Parts: sequence; C-alpha cells; structure tokens
Amino acid sequence: MLSLRSIVVLAATCAIASAHTVITYPGWRGDNIHTNGTEPGSVNIIPGSLGITYTNGTLGFPYGMQWMYPCGGMPTSRNRTKWPVGGGAIAIQPGWFPGHSLALIYLNMGYGNEPLNMSHTMLPVFQIVGPSNLEYPGTICLPQVPLPANFTPAIGDNATIQVIEAAQHGASLYNCVDITFADPKDVEEVTPQNCFNSSGANDKITFNNVFTSALVSAGSASVRLNTYASVLAPSLLSLAAWVWL
Ligand SMILES: *[C@@H]1O[C@H](CO)[C@@H](O)[C@H](O)[C@H]1NC(C)=O
Ligand SMILES: *[C@@H]1O[C@H](CO)[C@@H](O)[C@H](O)[C@H]1NC(C)=O
Ligand SMILES: *[C@@H]1O[C@H](CO)[C@@H](O)[C@H](O)[C@H]1NC(C)=O
Ligand SMILES: *[C@@H]1O[C@H](CO)[C@@H](O)[C@H](O)[C@H]1NC(C)=O
Ligand SMILES: *[C@@H]1O[C@H](CO)[C@@H](O)[C@H](O)[C@H]1NC(C)=O
Ligand SMILES: *[C@@H]1O[C@H](CO)[C@@H](O)[C@H](O)[C@H]1NC(C)=O
Repeated sequence: MLSLRSIVVLAATCAIASAHTVITYPGWRGDNIHTNGTEPGSVNIIPGSLGITYTNGTLGFPYGMQWMYPCGGMPTSRNRTKWPVGGGAIAIQPGWFPGHSLALIYLNMGYGNEPLNMSHTMLPVFQIVGPSNLEYPGTICLPQVPLPANFTPAIGDNATIQVIEAAQHGASLYNCVDITFADPKDVEEVTPQNCFNSSGANDKITFNNVFTSALVSAGSASVRLNTYASVLAPSLLSLAAWVWL
C-alpha cells in the first residue's frame, strides 16, 4: 500500500459547510464551487476548452456548477499534474453534500489535451455507504486504479480523470483533474495521510459492488412497476442489486 507512488485525492480541506467534492492531491481543475477559471488568481481559460453551455454560440463556464457534465463547469487547466503512466491511486472525499449515505462513484478518463468525451471507464461503477445522509467527513482510497482497457499512453501524454458521484436520486457531482502521464518516480508520493479509508465512528465509509440482473418477470413479487414508466421506458426496467462486500 505504502509503496504506491501516486494518487488522486478528492478531499475537502475546509470545514463542513457547503458541500461538494474537492481535489487536494495531486490537484484539480480548480474550485468549481466558487469559480470558473476566470477570476483573479485563477488560470485563464485555454482557447478551445470545451464548455458546457451555449449562449450566443459561445461556450460558457458558469461557476458553482459541480453537477454539470463533464467537469463541473471548469475549463481545462493549464497546471496539469503528474500521474503514473501505468495507472495509480484515486482517493475521494464523498460526503460534502447531503444525500450521499448511498452514492455511486464513477471513475472515467478522457484522452488528450482536450478530451472530446470522458467515456473511457477506469473501474466498474461501485457504491459507497456513508455514515449518514447529511454531510460527513472521511475519505476512500483506491490504491491502484487501472487505465481504461486497451489504452497505453506514453510518458508525456495528457489525459483527464473524471470523478462522478451520483446521489441516491441520480443528481451527480462532476470533478476533474487534468494529468500528464509520468514515470511513477516523478509523481508525488502517496502517503497514509493523503490516501486512506477512514474508519472512525463518524467517517466510516464502506463499499458495495454493483451488479445487475434481469427481471425474472414483470409480476415478480419484489418489484412494483410504474405503469407509465413501463410503457414509456421499458429499457429502463433493469434491476440493480446492492450487495455488501
Ligand atoms: C490549478 O490552478 C487552480 C487555480 O489557481 C487551482 O485552484 C488548482 O488547485 C490548480 N491545480 C493543480 C493541479 O495544481
Ligand atoms: C457572447 O456573449 C458573451 C457574454 O455576453 C460575450 O462575451 C461574447 O463576446 C459573445 N460572443 C459573440 C460571438 O457574440
Ligand atoms: C465565469 O463566471 C462568471 C460569474 O462568476 C460569469 O460572469 C462569467 O461569464 C463566466 N465566464 C465564462 C467564460 O463563462
Ligand atoms: C470519445 O473520444 C475518443 C477519443 O478519446 C474517440 O475515439 C471516441 O470516438 C469518442 N467517442 C464518442 C462517442 O464521441
Ligand atoms: C501536455 O500538456 C502540456 C501542458 O499543457 C503541454 O506542454 C504538452 O505539449 C502536452 N503534451 C502533449 C503530448 O500534447
Ligand atoms: C479501501 O477500501 C477498498 C474497498 O475495500 C479497498 O479496495 C482499498 O484497497 C482500501 N484502501 C486502502 C488504502 O486500504
């Protein structure tokens, strides 16, 4: 564990007040709670950065939009951070928003300097179980997150890691870190301080695998179908089962 050399830490460093994910190591695109990269002291938006809204045909970067695809309203950052060329650790502090006693976590990657999409999954979706449905402290740490399948970057190539946290009702928080692939020895070291699964009474977060299975039958006793939903969206009628590890 401690020999790991790299990590992405999504962690909040300030008191629990309002609530989003925050990347503290190796960094993040920026504070998408309060800024959009244009404020004094921020990096300037790189021409060509993909924004999330069109107004008059111009892409916009509204601030405080952590729930918006792909990166919570933040443009691509100029200050990239190094991440191991073979994959590395990711740690998340997920409890900075109410409603995450259960949450789904997606870890994706977009390739290149300005990814056109973040459709390359690094891990299957998994579920976390937090200590309460209000804001809570604590982190989870995945020591060795692999690269997406069939992706073999070279040292010096760029990519973006996207972390999505979906609450129980489906609302999702987006956060990104722009990386440059590097030799592990050139990446900031992982420590028990910046990558750990918290286990205290108030910050214990556990993990569930997420499986899917086909409905046995529409009349099966444990499932009650909404008539309108079954007419309008039959393809949505797949059933996910949460299974404790
Ligand atoms: C990049 O700069 C922004 C704006 O100053 C800062 O918020 C962010 O933490 C920096 N990211 C990295 C990876 O250094
Ligand atoms: C679009 O609107 C923004 C904000 O009002 C403005 O800064 C920009 O110059 C406009 N772009 C065009 C092409 O009109
Ligand atoms: C950044 O956010 C501010 C509001 O804080 C907004 O006025 C500005 O238009 C945004 N910039 C871009 C490029 O979207
Ligand atoms: C997503 O981006 C990759 C390049 O990173 C590209 O090959 C792929 O076609 C894109 N997928 C879609 C659906 O646009
Ligand atoms: C990666 O990004 C850095 C910083 O923006 C840039 O200097 C470098 O040329 C990029 N690498 C590639 C392979 O495009
Ligand atoms: C945190 O818990 C997960 C799930 O059990 C595990 O895969 C991971 O290795 C743990 N992280 C550390 C740093 O022990």
